[in-house]
Amino acid sequence: MEKTTLDIQKIRKDFPILSRTVNGQPLVYLDNAATSQTPKQVIDVIVDYYSGYNANIHRGVHTLSQEATDKYEGARLKIQQHFNAKLSHEIIFTAGTTHGINLVANGFSSLLKKGDEIIVSALEHHSNIVPWQMLCERTGAILKVIPMNLEGALEMSEYHHLLSDKTKLVFCNHVSNALGTVNPIKEIISAAHKVGAAVLIDGAQAAPHIKADVQALDVDFYVVSAHKMCGPTGVGMLYGKEEWLQKLPPYQGGGEMIAEVTFAKTTYADLPHKFEAGTPNICGGIAFGAALDYMNQLGFEAIAAYENELLEYATEQLLTIDDLKIYGTAPKKTSVISFNIKGIHPYDIGSILDKLGIAVRTGHHCAQPIMDFYGIPGTVRASLSFYNTKEEIDILVAGVKRAISMLS
Ligand code: ALA
Repeated sequence: MEKTTLDIQKIRKDFPILSRTVNGQPLVYLDNAATSQTPKQVIDVIVDYYSGYNANIHRGVHTLSQEATDKYEGARLKIQQHFNAKLSHEIIFTAGTTHGINLVANGFSSLLKKGDEIIVSALEHHSNIVPWQMLCERTGAILKVIPMNLEGALEMSEYHHLLSDKTKLVFCNHVSNALGTVNPIKEIISAAHKVGAAVLIDGAQAAPHIKADVQALDVDFYVVSAHKMCGPTGVGMLYGKEEWLQKLPPYQGGGEMIAEVTFAKTTYADLPHKFEAGTPNICGGIAFGAALDYMNQLGFEAIAAYENELLEYATEQLLTIDDLKIYGTAPKKTSVISFNIKGIHPYDIGSILDKLGIAVRTGHHCAQPIMDFYGIPGTVRASLSFYNTKEEIDILVAGVKRAISMLS
């Protein structure tokens, strides 16, 4: 494999948090699938906003409001360009992935009827299961599930069997948060379209690693959160094809999303504002644009190549530990390693790692059906980013060994 072109030590200096200590040890941050860290280039944008031009957008005649509006709409254009949406009004700012999914699920309440079918994958995060179950409760639609196999990959032949003219919607994540599996979303989308179903892809875990091209994918909806990709929390994007966004009713009512309000009748604003009621996360949106600038300047190919190198190294090193089992061994994976040690609860491993300054996530990772499939309560999950190093992986491996010796 080609060695990285990224200067990791230089990159690490962009992230102030990486130089702190935790429990007296240098921080080893391996919980990037939960949230990524923020470079100073993005922090500076946040500070500049609140110290230079904090104002409400789309409303004011005054200079500050116009400056804030220009930057916010400028961020929308950056997001459009990054995901290659055809139109800027196909980009809706949201509070994050969960908000985007609920917006679409709510909108489909008026488009589904009893007996219609919705397909989700067995690899979903709860945020891409529960809103569809709620939609089924409201409409009488039926939820079907694409099964997974022991590698943590989807059984695609089963998917093709599930599809029929009753299928109205298909939902799948691009990458599994719990296992790192990269799903064959192009195949999922084109097969769904053949039976006339719309597809929503949850891109939350893919966006930090893979630059999705929504036009090339021909996806109907694609949702992400900024905080997984070096941006702040509380902001994300819903991409929707214009025809779908025109068809869906608004999710929330309020200021900004109207054309005209009278007590007799209200008409709605054009896209994207129809879905952006109330004062949005203005600073967050602008900082999301800055985060994309930061990652694009590093380059997604270079990021993916380096993270793969880290994934291979970490997998190899962790497997030297007796009784360690990795969950999620599909051939196409992002840099996520979920594992357990025989006879030891994942929480206990995670707690000892924390004492050593190592941050990992433990538990079901908001993906209980995956844990049920494997018959386990949860896993220890190390999720790696482009600012992690092989030395940090060595620290993780030594930490796991130490935890085992303390717990067995
Ligand atoms: N969805 C996030 C994770 O996987 C919070 O940790």
